[in-house]
Amino acid sequence: MLELFPESAKVERGELEVGGLGARELAERFGTPLYVFCEETIRRRAREVREAAPGAQLVWAAKSFPNVALLRLLAEEGYGALVASLGELAFARAAGLSGEQLVVHGNAKPDEQLRAAAEAGALVVLDAEGEAARAASAGVRRVLVRATLGVEADTHEAVQTGHHGSKFGLPPDAVLRVIEEARDLGLEVAGLHVHVGSQLSDTASHEETIALLGQLVARCRDELGWAPELLDAGGGFAVRHVLEEPEAPLGALVRSVVGSVERAFAEHGLRQPALLLEPGRALVGRAGVTLYRVRSVKRLDGVTWAAVDGGMSDNPRPALYGARYTALSAARADEPATETVSVAGLHCESGDVLIDDVALPPPRAGDLLAVPATGGYTLGMSSNYNATPRPAAVLVRDGNARVIRRRETIDDLLALEQ
Ligand SMILES: Cc1ncc(COP(=O)(O)O)c(C=O)c1O
Repeated sequence: MLELFPESAKVERGELEVGGLGARELAERFGTPLYVFCEETIRRRAREVREAAPGAQLVWAAKSFPNVALLRLLAEEGYGALVASLGELAFARAAGLSGEQLVVHGNAKPDEQLRAAAEAGALVVLDAEGEAARAASAGVRRVLVRATLGVEADTHEAVQTGHHGSKFGLPPDAVLRVIEEARDLGLEVAGLHVHVGSQLSDTASHEETIALLGQLVARCRDELGWAPELLDAGGGFAVRHVLEEPEAPLGALVRSVVGSVERAFAEHGLRQPALLLEPGRALVGRAGVTLYRVRSVKRLDGVTWAAVDGGMSDNPRPALYGARYTALSAARADEPATETVSVAGLHCESGDVLIDDVALPPPRAGDLLAVPATGGYTLGMSSNYNATPRPAAVLVRDGNARVIRRRETIDDLLALEQ
């Protein structure tokens, strides 16, 4: 199961170590629940994408875990940021990113966000008719237009984005109208944007989308005398959370997208565009491990519950998407996993179950559980349900740990109350 954990993970005398630090020490120093990020894994994933797409502009989809320290770390690896809100834009700017290192997207961007994007000199992705006028009056200069080409990605429907009727992007006829509208307003239309969906472990949907995009670009050339100099092919590369899910070899997936773009543009006799990619979860998902403390164990007819000190407030994905996770008994990892256990969260909902069934050594109150592949869309999608302060996140490397997001306190929550 260690292949689901960060690159630096190992088990020493029954205890999980990440970044050279034991799970027990991490839990004692920083408390639980705790989000532990392995620096080495993030850097390796970042380099894998760069090597598979040399020359491409790379931006990290910061929504996967908006965090200034990780934005800075990825900036060191040459990554800008894809930001979906005013808050994410502020985080990216706090990390020192500016200009076209920033790509601002969203299907309902407020004027304030467009103005902030213009002030930062960001590239803005137009997502609706009429938005070009708002972008121009906000002072935006260069834009992409997001196309939705009717491809139903093979993934959970909540993270499909390129299908007919999607709330994101524009169908081909509208894309042409928006390009014309934007150019008439004096905006520089640098290119097109697609993002077909997330958690894709093969490139069939990317390939289908990019082939259709080739046809759309040929139409743009023939009908508008315009062709993109930049093509943003989005993100969506999967993270494996349980061994039953297919492997998603990141480098191979990215290489395949690069090849699809080259083929689609060559087929229509189009000039090859510069490529932009927006991986999110693929850079941070496997790097993250959540440590929970088991608070109580109930052995009922047919089910053993291990209830932990976190749950849907720090990781809503199981409740939202039926996402599957697994766990390791982090300080008893060498004991036989003889009991099938359901891992419950502490929230007041029967649906707050983090893991349906996992084989563990018979759990006891006080055990530490480590849930792998939790770096993306967990803490970033967390809530304060039940007035629960959000957990801390630490970045580990070579035996050192650094807090990159401090644990919230009840006083933080009370400070919002009037
Ligand atoms: C436009 C766009 N690009 C990139 C991403 C990143 O997706 P992932 O984290 O699956 O790579 C998303 C995620 O929702 C997105 O909406």
